[in-house]
Amino acid sequence: MTSYQAHYQAAMADPESFWLQQAQQLPWYQLPSRALEPLSDHRYRWFADGKLNCSYLALDHHVAAGRGNQLALIYDSPVTNTRQNFSYQLLLQQVQQCAGALRQLGVAKGDRVVIYMPMIPEAVIAMLAVARLGAIHSVVFGGFAAHELAVRIDDATPKVIISASCGIEVNKVIAYKPLLDKALAQASHQPVATLIVQRAQLAAALQPGRDHDWQQALATAEPAAAVPVASDDPLYILYTSGTTGKPKGVVRDHGGYAVALHYSMGAIYNVRAGDVFFAASDVGWVVGHSYIVYGPLFAGCTTVLYEGKPVMTPDAGSFWRLCQQYQVKVLFAAPTAFRAIRKDDPEAQWLQHYDISSLQCIFMAGERLDPATYDWTVAKTGKPVIDHWWQTETGWPICANLMGIEALPVKPGSSSVPVPGFCIEVLDDAGQRLPANQQGNIAIKLPLPPGCLQTIWRNEARFEAGYLSSFPGYYSSGDGGFIDDDGYVFIMGRTDDVINVAGHRLSTGEMEEIIARHPAVAECCVIGIADALKGQLPFGLVMVKNGSTISPEQLEQELVTMVREDIGAVACFKQAKIVQKLPKTRSGKILRKVLREIADGKTPQVPSTIEDPSCLEEIRQHLP
Ligand code: COA
Ligand code: AMP
Repeated sequence: MTSYQAHYQAAMADPESFWLQQAQQLPWYQLPSRALEPLSDHRYRWFADGKLNCSYLALDHHVAAGRGNQLALIYDSPVTNTRQNFSYQLLLQQVQQCAGALRQLGVAKGDRVVIYMPMIPEAVIAMLAVARLGAIHSVVFGGFAAHELAVRIDDATPKVIISASCGIEVNKVIAYKPLLDKALAQASHQPVATLIVQRAQLAAALQPGRDHDWQQALATAEPAAAVPVASDDPLYILYTSGTTGKPKGVVRDHGGYAVALHYSMGAIYNVRAGDVFFAASDVGWVVGHSYIVYGPLFAGCTTVLYEGKPVMTPDAGSFWRLCQQYQVKVLFAAPTAFRAIRKDDPEAQWLQHYDISSLQCIFMAGERLDPATYDWTVAKTGKPVIDHWWQTETGWPICANLMGIEALPVKPGSSSVPVPGFCIEVLDDAGQRLPANQQGNIAIKLPLPPGCLQTIWRNEARFEAGYLSSFPGYYSSGDGGFIDDDGYVFIMGRTDDVINVAGHRLSTGEMEEIIARHPAVAECCVIGIADALKGQLPFGLVMVKNGSTISPEQLEQELVTMVREDIGAVACFKQAKIVQKLPKTRSGKILRKVLREIADGKTPQVPSTIEDPSCLEEIRQHLP
């Protein structure tokens, strides 16, 4: 197959043989005899009778195939001035030890293990070790505060929690262990043990009996072999922001995920065993799961684990240095990272210091790649720059330019075309299909291809309500946009209360729940406002209670502190303004969509049911 069209049609016309063929390229313990097995109306399983283990696929398989000495992982940490190489053999050995240590602590198939770690090799080792035992990992992004961690601990009910003494941000050490202790003090569920990596920058106090030292535990453990699991056994739970304060635990299987990621490495990213892949994300996000850890290792690539920022650690040349130093073939980052580089180094002078000829392509995701950032990156690097769209829920790209199949012309502002397996349609609010170029809700026809979420952890009802019930027969993506005459998909933004801050997905509903707890607040609303660097920033609009005497400045400061303490610094909540009134319908519902439209500089579609339209002018004046 040579063209994208032929490839796409093959996947859609006969998904059964298309995906079985992809599955056959992996080393299963037991090859599946079928690809898709329908369970009920819109429920199904992938490769149901197959048996495998993702840790085996990522490590043992490559060692057995003679790639033991090849580099599997390069850890590059400008914030600690450390570089460390792990061959497949060495990584396997560490993962076996870690799995052994976890087993000693009682972890077995199906148990959950929460991982709250900075970007250090032990985070990757921990994930692969949990998977090795057939247990289920749930990585929590290190930028989240204790409360967020506690909520996830209570939902995932882990047997063990793995963490580190500290993480390192630009010029500051973040003490992780006290955050973990605080989270455990808040959580109802308690693990039987924790495993703590002590870092040289800051040692943590360990609680005897509960907290175990990583190094000691691994040194004394019996190496553990990979446990065969069923294809649809869960590999991980990854929490993501929804519209309420309770995050959603996206559940991913072993088999479908392995097949999808393996396929994507060749078809989308055009990499093979031995190539170097650098995804500048964090293991706490889906990009980190799929393209720092599992995808590159399934494909036998070398993955770069970077503990640093695109700028400031120490400068805007970091990405180019990494490309030269490790001969990176594919670089994957969020557009915000390139906006940060452009801001610090508009003429890309740092590029003159490095030879990036190994780099074949730059992929961007996490938020819309705005045409200005696209143009700048292409002009300065001279490389193909590919926007691709995906979500925590899907685990891999829904739309992309498939560089390993056929490089299509790029249309700036579009994430290109549907990836084989994804049938995308644009629907109006009533579920009617819209013609080309008309903006509406982006929906994906069921069944979704392998690799996508199976359910929401212990919450079938939320899975149904959040994704399947809006448009029967479709997965509702929560994103809005349109498809042009050539079939290119343009994702224009969320249609719900999720915002995207520096490539981080956050819930405004969750921020509202925190703000509403302030004693002076009567009602509030948080919206995302455009930001030139981070894409969006949260902005609070607050009505105070009658008789409240708190000054606007004091209230803003207290709300900022509350959100930072509950969600974490990563929320970047820094602005809250007092307003006399919020726009509401006569039945009392805040018109968030109207506010979003005003914030985006659009002329809002004000419904006739609005209670008092005059308040919109006051709000306009408050917005930056
Ligand atoms: N642990 C602890 N704190 C963290 C953290 C982590 N893992 N990640 C971020 N934070 C903190 C930061 O220290 C900062 O705190 P501060 O308010 O005290 O300064 C705050 O959260 C906001 O961080 P960030 O959004 O990273 O802002 P920044 O100004 O430090 O850096 C960018 C700006 C654009 C360089 C940075 O956001 C970036 O690299 N973004 C790309 C994100 C990405 O890759 N996302 C994955 C999508 S694929
Ligand atoms: P996350 O689940 O954190 O990966 O965030 C997913 C959300 O990020 C999507 O629903 C989109 O709103 C946004 N997003 C990710 N990639 C893109 C892209 N290439 N273009 C537009 N929006 C994107």
